[in-house]
Formats: sequence, structure tokens, C-alpha cells
Amino acid sequence: MIILGIETSCDETAAAVVRDGTQILSSVVSSQIAVHKPYGGVVPELASRKHLEAIVPVVREALHIAQISPKDLDAVAATQGPGLVGALLIGFSFAKAYSYSLGIPYLAVNHLEGHIRSVFLEENPPPYPFAALLVSGGHTSIYYVTSPTVYEQLGQTVDDAAGEAFDKVSKMLGLGYPGGTIIGKMAASGNPEKIIFPRIYLDKSGFNFSFSGLKTAVNRYIQTHPDYRTEINDIAAGFQEAVVDVLSYKLIHAACEKNCRHIAIVGGVAANSRLREKIRLDAEHKGISVHIPSIQLCGDNAAMIAAAGYSDIAAGRHSEMSADVYSRVHSYLI
Ligand code: KG4
Ligand code: ZN
Repeated sequence: MIILGIETSCDETAAAVVRDGTQILSSVVSSQIAVHKPYGGVVPELASRKHLEAIVPVVREALHIAQISPKDLDAVAATQGPGLVGALLIGFSFAKAYSYSLGIPYLAVNHLEGHIRSVFLEENPPPYPFAALLVSGGHTSIYYVTSPTVYEQLGQTVDDAAGEAFDKVSKMLGLGYPGGTIIGKMAASGNPEKIIFPRIYLDKSGFNFSFSGLKTAVNRYIQTHPDYRTEINDIAAGFQEAVVDVLSYKLIHAACEKNCRHIAIVGGVAANSRLREKIRLDAEHKGISVHIPSIQLCGDNAAMIAAAGYSDIAAGRHSEMSADVYSRVHSYLI
């Protein structure tokens, strides 16, 4: 089964062609970084306009690279939410119209489910059940995944998402957008033990997260150290280490609690090299296998949306043409 995936929930216009939910025939991502950079973050109105300009060329390119003609497609899947409503509407409406004109099913996909499916686009996917850490710009959650469509949320952030904390700390340090990638790079040449920021575990036996106190601690450090510019790499490394310690602890703890031997990390922050390294090290000690998508599949992409659409269709689900987009989490993933 060949599915065209479409993703426009934030600042990437993406289209991909995926066979049987696992084999990527093409994955095109048109980034809007240059558009939003001068503003220090994503401007929703500009994002929508750029999606509108890019959607047709990006879909054409995805079909061209996959060497697929529209009549070879079996379904079109698009992100329904969560995300920026104006941005979502572009890809979602396009997918509805395109599938209708081709007379094939149209699948409304949850973006977070897409991130979890991204790990199945790699060679060595996790066997069920597994514990998944989803770390993106808007979400930080741990799920216990028992089948292609069954996700039990064990915990989530009570305030900022991990990616959001990276973005805000980058802004505080005057490093700008896109924050996560910049902080990750600066941290690589800093000393993570020079400035120790708090590790916020909340209840150590639970799976909820909180990152706003850590963000405040970094801000306080900046305010009380007028010459902080000389140690930006160490601040970035100290902050990153505090985030990574908590994420790794909670994910491994979830796997132990649920008695499962496999874990996955997905979402934009899963591209962070220290997070990948630390979780691999911690898991190795416990005999737990770690599954992380390649860097291109951590950030937003449409291959993961096509893969999630495939799971839906395989489970007999389909979407109504009357379905609408939504901005916040709103599904069985809650
Ligand atoms: O999944 P994603 O691309 O979009 C959302 O669904 O939100 O995640 C974006 C988030 C941003 O907050 C970005 O700063 C963060 O992922 N990110 C990183 C890195 N690359 C992207 N955070 C830490 N280290 C990175 N290397
Ligand atoms: Zn995402």
C-alpha cells in the first residue's frame, strides 16, 4: 500500500511517499527557518502563507523522487493536529481535495502519533511493548506502546516542553532561533559540570516533567553574572545536562516499571546528540534496547505521517471529509 503523507503543523512544509508504513520512497521537507529567523521564533501568519506557496511544489517533488504517479497512490494522510491551526489547514485541506479528486481514502493523523511511528521507518524498529519518550517543541510525554495504535500516556510535562525550554534558553542567551540546534552545538564545547542547574524530577516515582523552574534558574544565573557571555558554552552544557538527566531517568524508570526491554526516543529534541548518547549509556546498564530515528526523522517530516496513516488504515480506521484541524492534543493519545 502506497501512502502520500503531508505535514504542515508548524514551520516545515513536508510531503513523503511511504510503502506499507515502513519503506520511504521519498521524503521532502521544505524548512521555513530563514523566514522566521529575523523574528526569533515562528510567526503563525507567515508560516501559513509559506505553506500555501510550498505545498504544491513539495508534493510534486515527493511524487517525482518516488517515481510515482498520482494514480499509484492508495491513500493520502495529513496532520490534523496538534499544531498551528492556520498552518495545519493548508496541508489538511490540500489532502482532502487531492484524495477526493483521486477517489482514494483520506486519513487525518495525530502529529504525536506520527512522531512515535517515525521509529518504524528505521531498519531495527522496537518490538512491542516499548516505552516511548516524545520530546518536541510543544510536548514532552512518556507512552507505553502495546500495538501500532494503542498508546498509554504515563506522564507529561506540567509546564514547558523540553524543546520549548531549549528554545527559551537560547533566546535568553541571545542565540536566537532555532534554539534547540544552537544550544546543542554550543553545549558540545562546554563543560556540563561547571554550572550545576537543578534537576526537577517532581515525584521521582512518577512520569510527569517540569522544565519551567530550570528555565528560571538559567535566567537567574544570567541576571546575577554580568559577564555570563564569556561562559555561554558552559551555561548551554549545564542546562542541557539537567534536561537530559531527567529525561533519561524517567524513560528508563518507565521501562523498568512496565517491565519492558525496549525504549524509543522521538520528536525534534531526539536529534540532540547528548540525549541520544546518555540514554544509550543508561539503557545499556539495564539491558534495555534503544531505538532512535535518524536525525532527519526526528524533526517534523511527512514520512512519519504517512506511516501513522498506514497504521490507521491497517486497523480499519478512516476519516470523514467533515473532520477539522485542532490546535491542542485531542485524541486517544491524551
Ligand atoms: O518535533 P519538532 O520538530 O516540532 C514539534 O513538533 O514541535 O520539535 C521541535 C523542537 C524545537 O523546540 C527544537 O528546539 C527542538 O525540537 N530541537 C532540539 C534539537 N533539534 C531540534 N532540541 C535540542 N537539541 C537539538 N539538537
Ligand atoms: Zn513535531
